[in-house]
Amino acid sequence: MKILLLGANGQLGQTFLIHGGLASRGDVAAASRNGELTVKAANAVTGDLADLAQLEALLDTEQPDIVVNAAAYTAVDKAENDEATAMLVNGQAPGTIGRWAARHGALVVHFSTDYVFPGDASVPYAPDALTGPQGMYGQSKLAGEDGLRDSGAPHLILRTAWVYSAVGHNFLKTMLRLGADRDELRVVADQRGTPTTTSLIVEGTLAAIDRYLAAGADRGKLTGTFHLTASGETTWHGFAQAIFDEAAGAGLIARRPTVHPIASSEFPTPAKRPAYSVLDTTSFATTFGYPLADWRDGLRATLGQLSTQ
Ligand SMILES: NC(=O)c1ccc[n+]([C@@H]2O[C@H](COP(=O)([O-])OP(=O)(O)OC[C@H]3O[C@@H](n4cnc5c(N)ncnc54)[C@H](OP(=O)(O)O)[C@@H]3O)[C@@H](O)[C@H]2O)c1
Repeated sequence: MKILLLGANGQLGQTFLIHGGLASRGDVAAASRNGELTVKAANAVTGDLADLAQLEALLDTEQPDIVVNAAAYTAVDKAENDEATAMLVNGQAPGTIGRWAARHGALVVHFSTDYVFPGDASVPYAPDALTGPQGMYGQSKLAGEDGLRDSGAPHLILRTAWVYSAVGHNFLKTMLRLGADRDELRVVADQRGTPTTTSLIVEGTLAAIDRYLAAGADRGKLTGTFHLTASGETTWHGFAQAIFDEAAGAGLIARRPTVHPIASSEFPTPAKRPAYSVLDTTSFATTFGYPLADWRDGLRATLGQLSTQ
């Protein structure tokens, strides 16, 4: 089996390579924009989602049975002034991949985001809840979902949220960096979501792929749109408090900064963030037999990884 991993240098892409679960299931070609890999664990190829002709040529060359698309234009604020690139990479490329996969019978595993929702709910969003992105990033990711669904390819669209890991750029690493320099931090306390590790996403994705491959003629029942996050919920302020509590306990930081709760209005950003981002993961857990651990378990495990680096 041939597997093409797109976006191999992102925090999710790197975690797929470090984990090794794709490589134990097939021959992996790992694509980055410049053809170089941060994690030198696979056959490196060039894959630029902003160049749809190059992307099609890559698919023709690699002939994958499974495409795992971890690439995305993830600069949420920059996207507000860079609609064309965000729409090309997030909005159009998934459809291009999907149309190729539909012609070749390949499975497309694609990641999407809580930002497709308006964020005004008070109970977790189900996969079929009404979408309504508030900014360009969310609009472009929703366009990509639609393009992949319309392509006719067998697909798994896995929406996730508040992603972090021991590698790459994310909230956890920013907090640890700022906390090392400052005695006091101000963190938004009126946005709710579920911090989710890339390890959880990788392991959940592999469980879903395994179920899909084992289902034979019933595979069609295991495709569609699912929510893949950890369990539970908190605010960014609650997440920051937990980071410093756990990091102090693990001996990663010498002293714990004071974390003050602030309102989103005190920390204006070009793109509006959803106030409520919690995703209902029930259908993922039941369809793929994969229970989703509490977000605090992922935090402890990730800090454990950082303490041994
Ligand atoms: N991060 C979050 O909190 C979050 C939340 C919800 C959903 N998601 C989704 O989860 C998935 C993985 O995100 P992540 O956190 O791993 O993001 P990330 O760390 O920002 O990685 C994204 C990767 O995509 C690559 N990329 C950007 N433009 C590209 C292009 N034109 N062609 C090829 N590759 C390109 C980047 O390449 P370079 O390394 O060259 O920049 C980077 O390696 C994405 O679909 C994202 O939308 C993320």
